[in-house]
Amino acid sequence: MAKIKVEYICQQCGRRAPKPLGKCPQCGSWNSMVAEMADRHRPSSGTNSQPLRLAEIEGDVGARLPLGIGEFARVLGGGVVPGSVILIGGDPGIGKSTLLLQMSLSLARGNRVLYISGEESQPQIKARAERLMQGRAFPQDLFLLTETRLESIRSHITSMKPAAVVIDSIQTVTSDRIDSGPGSLSQIRESTAQLQSIAKSSAVAIFLVGHVTKDGAIAGPKVLEHIVDTVLYLEGDAFHSFRLLRAVKNRFGATSEVGVFEMQAEGLVEVTNPSEAFLSERVPDSPGSAIAVTMEGTRPLLVELQGLTNTTTFGHPRRTANGIDTNRMLLTIAVLTRRVGLPLADQDIFINVVGGLRVYEPATDLAVAAAIASSMRDQPTRPEMALIGEVGLSGELRRVPHIEARLNEAASLGFRQIIIPRAKVSTSVKHKNVEVIEVASLQQALNRALAKN
Ligand code: TYD
Ligand code: MG
Repeated sequence: MAKIKVEYICQQCGRRAPKPLGKCPQCGSWNSMVAEMADRHRPSSGTNSQPLRLAEIEGDVGARLPLGIGEFARVLGGGVVPGSVILIGGDPGIGKSTLLLQMSLSLARGNRVLYISGEESQPQIKARAERLMQGRAFPQDLFLLTETRLESIRSHITSMKPAAVVIDSIQTVTSDRIDSGPGSLSQIRESTAQLQSIAKSSAVAIFLVGHVTKDGAIAGPKVLEHIVDTVLYLEGDAFHSFRLLRAVKNRFGATSEVGVFEMQAEGLVEVTNPSEAFLSERVPDSPGSAIAVTMEGTRPLLVELQGLTNTTTFGHPRRTANGIDTNRMLLTIAVLTRRVGLPLADQDIFINVVGGLRVYEPATDLAVAAAIASSMRDQPTRPEMALIGEVGLSGELRRVPHIEARLNEAASLGFRQIIIPRAKVSTSVKHKNVEVIEVASLQQALNRALAKN
């Protein structure tokens, strides 16, 4: 009998070693090496491929399948390309299974769809589908399968010839060719690689659900992202209903598009006008609130930033940022203190982005500063005003990209005054119905933004 060879594989980055190492020499993770059986079947080196001149290549990537969910299709670049593999990551309970079942239900009107689950039983999935369909009839072409063996999945795909397959989740799939347990890196990698070749050879689009680890990476992480064609993340937080679907890799389209959904009782509902949704609970004229215009990919989004300052009762003042980068918040506070002269040293300061959204763009600095100053002075910002600009260390307001798109979005939502950084070349931006206020410094911006009592 052949000797069984054991290798040690870093579960974070896939580095192989003949001996267990405490610290991975490649990615630096501690205690991440796990013993796995060496692959018994390395791919053979026979060749039946054929180099072709560019001009000789026939065929194209194939017409995209429309998906039936506009926000989902837009993130993929207008639908899914047959033969591609799409990995969807996200925290447990965020709505990955829901989204893919909804997609399957609408795609199966006209296309054969196979939904394979290794996590839920057929009756469980049916119950969810019933809720999603709310009494409407099930499409004839949607098939459910509970299976985790890759070899069996392969034979079902070959015999059924679906247009799209969903696998929930890749961590449950195991191949007979690998001896290590389900969810191990070798299993995940092998299964994904095989699914990639099944997708290509039978022109079926395969959607894989990938669980994320606590650091936010898809388990069996970077390695997987390299194998598949497209990587999407479904984000949001458990306490809010908004969900953002974001592409981080896309071989068939841009990675800049973002889909916005809201989790409701009847599943994920597309939010076609996200800015309006994010501002729906705003109370104008309350101190500590400011409107920023951030870019999500190519799409401008209006968000409400709230600031609260409160005199520290003991010890160090607290600074808590929810939805923005803490370092940017600290920087903005320092600039407000030194360049604007706000006495913030003895204040606890809290910043919150309404709706559970995360904004990491420097262009929202000005709104953060205005929210803090507004709370500190107990003066609301002007109700029909949006604020755009990055704050520099000297208290200057810095230019940000896509100013035109931001202005248009703010204007279309009824904002009548918009503060933007002054352009070096004075080609002042004009906009109908809107007063565009160009300012050079944070101080000037706050003078214009805070309504005097
Ligand atoms: P799920 O799709 O199972 O998440 P994942 O597959 O990412 O782990 O979503 C689970 C959550 O979504 C669950 O807490 C209930 C909620 N949910 C709704 O609010 N409405 C619905 O119609 C459905 C199906 C789920
Ligand atoms: Mg799930």
